[in-house]
Amino acid sequence: MDFTIKCGNPEKQRSACLVVGLFETRRLSTAAKAIDSASKKHLSNILKRGDINGKIGQSLLLHDIPGISSSRILLIGCGKEKDLSPSHYRKIVKNSINKLKTTGATEAVSCLTELNIKTGDDSKDEYWKIRQFVEISQSTLYEFNQLKSKNKKPKNKLRKLVLMIPERKDFSAGESAIKDGTAIANGVSLARDLANMPPNICTPSYLADQAKKLGRAQKSIKVTVLDEAAMKKLGMESLLSVSQGSRQPAKLITMEYKGGKKDEKPVVLVGKGVTFDTGGISIKPSAAMDEMKFDMCGAASVFGTITAIAEMRLPIHVIGVVPTVENMPGGEATRPGDIYTSMSGQTIEVLNTDAEGRLILCDALTYSERFDPAAVIDIATLTGACVVALGKHASGLLSNHDPLAREILDAGENTGDRAWRLPLWDEYQSQIDSPFADMANIGGREAGTITAACFLSRFTKKFHWAHLDIAGTAWLTGKNKGATGRPVPMLVQYLIDRCS
Ligand code: BES
Ligand code: MN
Ligand code: ZN
Repeated sequence: MDFTIKCGNPEKQRSACLVVGLFETRRLSTAAKAIDSASKKHLSNILKRGDINGKIGQSLLLHDIPGISSSRILLIGCGKEKDLSPSHYRKIVKNSINKLKTTGATEAVSCLTELNIKTGDDSKDEYWKIRQFVEISQSTLYEFNQLKSKNKKPKNKLRKLVLMIPERKDFSAGESAIKDGTAIANGVSLARDLANMPPNICTPSYLADQAKKLGRAQKSIKVTVLDEAAMKKLGMESLLSVSQGSRQPAKLITMEYKGGKKDEKPVVLVGKGVTFDTGGISIKPSAAMDEMKFDMCGAASVFGTITAIAEMRLPIHVIGVVPTVENMPGGEATRPGDIYTSMSGQTIEVLNTDAEGRLILCDALTYSERFDPAAVIDIATLTGACVVALGKHASGLLSNHDPLAREILDAGENTGDRAWRLPLWDEYQSQIDSPFADMANIGGREAGTITAACFLSRFTKKFHWAHLDIAGTAWLTGKNKGATGRPVPMLVQYLIDRCS
């Protein structure tokens, strides 16, 4: 999609479709007012017929309005003007794109970026509105067709979108919003593509190859891949215990983006890359097991975040670490009761082979110590309990450092890719006591998301650390089944905020 910004009168825009907002109840937005007066009240006369009252979700497509240069006018319901929040804005933009898709228009001019979006006693600036517009429209237009034998081509005909800004002085903010928004949207799309890929194709080796491909395409990203022999040497018995039941060899991928000052400490992003999670010997029930191909969404979000910041040339040092395995049952698979020694030297009794994410993450976290990180954030589809607690709207956040947690929460709020913090109190730690090893890999039925994080916290004592449990947010089920690309927007925003 080609985005441009423009400053001018809506009624004079010559396009296939001009998109304008309508508030409840039949109150014209600024752009709609301009259309109305240029058309000698044509618009208000149509509105009197009652076909639309302005509720969010409503829309009305009008053709050949007299006095208007565009051939179509698309009215989009914006709800009550005084309630126009960031989340309403996101819905409105999404609705407008979905509606545009159903028209024959290949290009359009949208005036929705002129809306006044309120947050508390402030309102969102042009940069925010335009960047959100770009991210949301790209996300709404996303399709995954590459493995269909027919209809591989995108169904969407829309090629060009012009976004209106009210004042010329906002031009450069608008331009950088389009650049950044496009970079983030590309990162989100990459994360979705990787995650939607079926598990027979998207194996640990495939992810390693994709990382190398990224390193070749982006000079600023340096990629290294460790194989099982190298991991064995490092003492990563915990990680390797997960892949030993699979024919697919484990990989440890490192992607380094160095855009910051010479000796700037890096932010390390660690992404869970279980390319398929059968549960292992503690095998999962078969219903919806196909969705366990999404168990590498944490890894995918690291890929997406790194490509986005590289495209933006963000002045920051970031290292992505992706431990990637397939969790299978088999003659050589881990048995419940096995005890393994992690890279940290701590021993782990594996009571449930389906709690495998923490087993690969703990070694990747210990490995991250070597980078002397400013902060480490791991991203993982870690617990079903998190889906029960927070649903699909918020990722779970647990952290050993309050300021880091705050920054991540704020970045989520800003982008609409939100997280909610859960406690990591000492009281929970005893749930993962083991009579035979330093710890068990499960903590019982209660507080499953927290005890998983308690496990990880034993490997993150040497740095500021946050854990994002994205089990509920990384993909959608049902008729919209597919990866969401979350939390790429939140992570990129966090990194942007760190730069200023
Ligand atoms: N990948 C799953 C978590 C998951 C389950 C994410 C369902 C999204 C939807 C993870 O490896 C897992 O199986 N976790 C177990 C942990 C339990 C055995 C302590 C779970 O949540 O049931
Ligand atoms: Mn599992
Ligand atoms: Zn898993």
